[in-house]
Amino acid sequence: MKIYVYPHKILATKSRPVKEIDGKLQYLIDEMIELMYKAKGVGLAANQVGEAIRLFVMDVSQEEERKNPIVVINPKITATEGSVTDEEGCLSLPNYSAKVTRAKRIEVKGYDRKGRELRLEGEGLLAKCLQHEIDHLDGICFVDRLSPLKKAIFRKKWPKILAKLNIRDEKE
Ligand code: NI
Repeated sequence: MKIYVYPHKILATKSRPVKEIDGKLQYLIDEMIELMYKAKGVGLAANQVGEAIRLFVMDVSQEEERKNPIVVINPKITATEGSVTDEEGCLSLPNYSAKVTRAKRIEVKGYDRKGRELRLEGEGLLAKCLQHEIDHLDGICFVDRLSPLKKAIFRKKWPKILAKLNIRDEKE
């Protein structure tokens, strides 16, 4: 399993809902959690690893010792409040970060890996991460949310970052 790098087309793909929670899905979830920790990320969406389904994993506990992975399937944003601008990064955009404006407070409903109803609510890193990951499921990366000026700067910088990391710019 690998993490696809921007601007791979799967990152711009709107993911389809999960219809069945089976053994194959459990395996995918376990692999995603392991990869997220290995890559030192706080969240990872299924399309980032090549599966265009509405599922992401995250861990905003930021504790090295006690890991607390959260699995969210078929999430829906049910409420938002306020607005806040904060720095964001993404495992599909290594060595790049930028400020993004999002809702300050958010409520999300979905399902956990056992198919039980799940409700997450909060602000700060949790709110930021939830919005970032749900964006991925809709084919949106955080750089898509930059102002036209900042996006232009990003577009100039990005090929150089990829070259430095020795990553080929692959769209397919
Ligand atoms: Ni991301």
